[in-house]
Amino acid sequence: MAILQIVTYPNKLLEKKCKKVADFDERLWSLLDDMYDTMVEADGVGLAAPQVGILEQIAVIDAGDENGKIELINPVLIEKRGNENGIEGCLSIPGIYGEVKRASFIKIKAQDRMGKAFILEASGFLARVIQHEMDHLNGVLFTTKAAELFDEDELETIEG
Ligand code: CO
Repeated sequence: MAILQIVTYPNKLLEKKCKKVADFDERLWSLLDDMYDTMVEADGVGLAAPQVGILEQIAVIDAGDENGKIELINPVLIEKRGNENGIEGCLSIPGIYGEVKRASFIKIKAQDRMGKAFILEASGFLARVIQHEMDHLNGVLFTTKAAELFDEDELETIEG
């Protein structure tokens, strides 16, 4: 296992669409393991493959809830409901935060590391993290969706 280098804005890799994963092999499994370790080391709750320079539809998530580690390969949104505002940040855009409107409930279809399809329903914070990571796979950064951006000091003022 290894800690990977996180690609940061304005690297153009972050704005490219990712291609679907076709091979569910050792290379994918070790990438998933490395991405998870890299995310934990960086104190993040989600990490998408383009953030480590790989343009493939892969994301790892751990929102600190009972779901634990979630690996998403080739995720597709199949349903969304409601919306809510929340503050987001991104390991690829350190020190910048913004309020983003996201669906409050989502249902997605994805594949696990063996290529097996599964359905996942999520709401609240986990739904937000999944939508943020799925955006990465389409080359979309949260800063393009935020009404306003803040730095660390401004964030403290907002959150009290
Ligand atoms: Co991000």
